Order: sequence, then C-alpha cells, then structure tokens
Amino acid sequence: MALVSATSLVAPALADRYAIGHFNINGADWLETYLKVAQTTKTPIIVATSDRIIDFLGGFDYMARYVRFMMQALSVTVPVALHLDHGLSVDHVYQAIDAGYTSVMFDGSKLPIGENVALTKEVVAYAHAHHVSVEAEVGSVGGNENGLVNGIRYASVADAVEMASTGIDALAAALGSVHGDYVGRPNLNFERMAEIAAATKLPLVLHGASGILDDQIQQAIQLGTAKININTEVNTVWTSAVTKALQAKRSNHDPQPILTAGKQAIAYLVEAKMKAFHVLGKSTRLSSMS
Ligand code: 13P
Repeated sequence: MALVSATSLVAPALADRYAIGHFNINGADWLETYLKVAQTTKTPIIVATSDRIIDFLGGFDYMARYVRFMMQALSVTVPVALHLDHGLSVDHVYQAIDAGYTSVMFDGSKLPIGENVALTKEVVAYAHAHHVSVEAEVGSVGGNENGLVNGIRYASVADAVEMASTGIDALAAALGSVHGDYVGRPNLNFERMAEIAAATKLPLVLHGASGILDDQIQQAIQLGTAKININTEVNTVWTSAVTKALQAKRSNHDPQPILTAGKQAIAYLVEAKMKAFHVLGKSTRLSSMS
C-alpha cells in the first residue's frame, strides 16, 4: 500500500474517539518493528523522523525511499503515514515534502505567534498542493527533544484559533506535556484542551506522551486528541533490553541476540500503546472506507 496522509488516519480517529500512534524512527530496527507490529495487528500508524536527527538517519530523500522500500519488502497493506516531526524551518519542511513525506509538522513554537502563523500559512499552501497534511504547534511543549531543552508554555485558546485559521490539519497545543522523562506527575490542562478542541474543531496532537498514564491518555482522547506522539519510551525500553542482553552475553560478540532483544522490547511497547490509544486493529475499517 502507498503511504497515506496523516489526515486520512487522524480524521476518522477524531470522529470515533481513538488516537493514531506516532512513533519516532531512531534507526532501521525501529522502522522495521513499527511496520511489522502495524501489519500484524492491522493497525494504522504514523512513523516519524525528527528534523533534529535527520542527518543521522540519512536525510529526507533516503528516509522517504527507505520507508517505501521497507513497506514493499514487508508486504505492508495497512495505512502508514510518513511524518516530519518538529520541522525546524520552512525550507526543511519543503525538502521533506519534495522527498515524498506525506505529513509534516512545522514547529514555529519558539517564534512570536504572528510569525508562527504566517510561516505555517505558507507551509499549508505548499503542503496541500502536494496532498500532504500539516501539523503546527502553539504554546511550547517542554523538556528535552534530542538535546533541545526548553520550558513548558501553555497554549492559549486565542493562539490556537489564530493558528487554526491557517488551514492546518492537526494542532499540537502544548498543555503541560514534556518531551523526555517527567520529573513528577504530568500536569495536563484538560479544561484548556476541551476549550481548544471546541474552538478549533481540529484533531489535537499530544506531544511528549511518554510517561503519561493511561487514564490521562483516555481523557485526552475523549476531549479530541487524535494523534499521540511517542519517542522516549520506545528508546528507553530498547536501551534497557539491549543493555540487559549485553550484560548477559559479555563474552559473545554476536550482535543478533542483542539487537533482537531491542526489537522485541519495541514491539511489545508499541502494541501496548496502540491498545491504550484504542487504535489496535482499526485498519480494516479504514481501508474499506478508502
Ligand atoms: P516523548 O519523547 O516524550 O515520547 O515525546 C515524543 C514527541 O512528542 C515527539 O514529537
């Protein structure tokens, strides 16, 4: 199956109150595992590359070709979107679209709202002409994203409404979540989430979802969150499984069992997240709609 836009996955999720899992790719094993879990469980998925590590991953063109190749090689028939996570400039977003990404995020959250909105509008025009969906951020998700550290700034309803006027397809409204590990319990502003969902009518995106407990995930979904981003937790389970396997096989230089342990840990976590997002097995319905 060809890659699809994120909107084609997220719009039905919003209507039926479940959420599509967005999982970041940190290497070949991540992508292969995500696709295998999605296919085996018949679940739609968004696989994402963070702009900050795109050079490490080989570049936009490499990743766009690689994801398509891997889908073909694994006979993937469930719908998959390839998403640019936290696009750092309009130019980078255009590069991803030209390479064949089917969904992009322009992250102008560090800019004044007027500038963020103006640049997002440009991105929307270019992306929609290429049938690519657009996510934007208002407020600021806190924490540590691949070395970028910043504080939480809660999104306002006014900024969210202004951003919605650009024609974006999904809105990352920062409401207390952080990238990376939480210190203490996440403090999500659900009241504001409900107000923003009602005022914009857009599917909301929950960034920094690693470490957010299932009851809060359910609440967010019920209030209109239809895309949930996971990166840190996948890397945490991979690192701890690989470390354990390395310690158990100190005298053995064969990487296969070590990396297999990492893949298994990712697979287990991704399936559990899909279950928690109520998206597990939803692709049968989506493909019959398209
Ligand atoms: P975590 O790293 O907290 O899982 O957040 C991922 C994310 O929001 C990617 O955009």
